[in-house]
Amino acid sequence: MDRRATAVAHPNIALIKYWGKRDEQLMIPYADSLSMTLDIFPTTTTVRIDSGAPADEVVLDGSPAGGERRQRVVTFLDLLRQLAGRTERAHVDTRNSVPTGAGLASSASGFAALALAGAAAYGLDLDATALSRLARRGSVSASRSVFGGFAICHAGPGAGAAADLGSYAEPVPVAPFDVALVVAIVDAGPKAVSSREGMRRTVRTSPLYPSWVASGRADLAEMRTALLRGDLDAVGEIAERNALGMHATMLAARPAVRYLAPVTVAVLDSVLRLRADGVGAYATMDAGPNVKVLCRRADADRVADTLRDVAPGCAVVVAGPGPAAAPDPGSRP
Ligand code: DP6
Repeated sequence: MDRRATAVAHPNIALIKYWGKRDEQLMIPYADSLSMTLDIFPTTTTVRIDSGAPADEVVLDGSPAGGERRQRVVTFLDLLRQLAGRTERAHVDTRNSVPTGAGLASSASGFAALALAGAAAYGLDLDATALSRLARRGSVSASRSVFGGFAICHAGPGAGAAADLGSYAEPVPVAPFDVALVVAIVDAGPKAVSSREGMRRTVRTSPLYPSWVASGRADLAEMRTALLRGDLDAVGEIAERNALGMHATMLAARPAVRYLAPVTVAVLDSVLRLRADGVGAYATMDAGPNVKVLCRRADADRVADTLRDVAPGCAVVVAGPGPAAAPDPGSRP
């Protein structure tokens, strides 16, 4: 019987962002990044080797995937086959519990789950570092979703094989601390500019890019010590300024890359008001208009209610730190 494997992975939200690749083929980022894996919106992926199939088949949320989405998965399967010395095609079935392509990190959970399930199906025995390196080839942020809790993705040194070897994620030590992330889904539709195109344009044309990368290095060092102290307010402040700096850098691209919508700005204002009222709440945004607000678990309901008031009609979900990517215990071998 052809072998099959199923894996589950969760999205992560970067508190220190990566934006821009120095090698698009090997998927090597310019900058280190640091994230929290969430306990919501898992992706479940099954890879079944199909030795009789003439081509790979990719099913996304119950429908056959086409175009670039299918191509990214097929390119990833080609890499798995090359590593495993195999040639058989595969059937991939992916189920997201988060809208795909809306800046909610479905590519992170998606490629982490695909790396784990695909490696198992093709018989590759990889440790967590090798899995993370592999997941990075699908999506840089996916390298971090291989791990639960907080993870850092190293940009790695040099170029080519050295960079490939040196770019992977690993867990970050943190003091136990009370943290929640309140996610306001402002718009679940696909984004107008893909993150790939947005990154390319920002790297090539934004005069702010080099200084954002440099300030990200300082943010990362401060973030690591804030996490070691379990200092939610410092973690939030650093995350918010890092995200705003990234969006400022995108806005300075020519033409501008703008993901922030009017509701995004209204939510950002409400976060400032919460802080003025003494609630430790800090915003971060990725390649989309959605806002994620970092706060203490005890304040999460108040923060969620505030976001619902300023963004009526938007879904608001409270998340906590989530688990590492794992084989699905319910799946049959
Ligand atoms: C703004 O990792 O989704 O969320 O590597 O091209 O798949 P690809 O992009 P992706 O981009 C994430 C960008 C970000 C910041 C981050 O997660 O570090």
